[in-house]
Amino acid sequence: MDANAVSSGLSMAGPVDDPLSGQPSAAEGVRPPRLDFDRMPARVLRELRASHMGETVAVRIYDGVVASGRDGRMTAFARSHRAVERNHLRLFEAMLPPDRRSRLMGLWRAGGWLMGWLPARIHASVFFAVIGAVEAWVDTHYARQIALIRRDHPDPDLLRLLEAIRADEATHSDHAHRLEGDPPAWTRPVARLLCAIAVGASRLGVAVGKWV
Ligand SMILES: [Fe+2]
Ligand SMILES: [Fe+2]
Repeated sequence: MDANAVSSGLSMAGPVDDPLSGQPSAAEGVRPPRLDFDRMPARVLRELRASHMGETVAVRIYDGVVASGRDGRMTAFARSHRAVERNHLRLFEAMLPPDRRSRLMGLWRAGGWLMGWLPARIHASVFFAVIGAVEAWVDTHYARQIALIRRDHPDPDLLRLLEAIRADEATHSDHAHRLEGDPPAWTRPVARLLCAIAVGASRLGVAVGKWV
């Protein structure tokens, strides 16, 4: 395979599983379903609002990393994963008109940026540990959301989209853990603390984003 194909994350057989390329992405090429909000239970709309908020935060995390100006590997990871998260966000924006979204977008955008910038400024292994933990939590968030929607509003196109995005989040967690490497001893308690804060903030953000 030629070097250009590797760097773009493509091969003759399809996308290469490369942590720095952000590939493969199951959501690539998936079309957003047209949703009938009159028939949708309010709790399903709240779930989609929370996920739109979460994808906004994901894009901003990588904006924060790029702004931190650290380590080339982190920036390469951030740029490629940001492209995948932008696609997730684009899909949610296509489904949810502005008046159905959270009204606290400024807060989510600022919080996401800080969640990327701060660990990136401390150390690459701290950054990758935080991303691995948050993406693993996002995977469980989508699993719970998919189960709820399958029960309460089983739109096959919506479920297909959410399953594809969930698969991407699991891939992102795996990518981050693979790049964590063998962290210096001093970074481990810092990483544990920031992982707990980032996952706790994600959990709180989703709970609030459903309602406001
Ligand atoms: Fe995402
Ligand atoms: Fe992700």
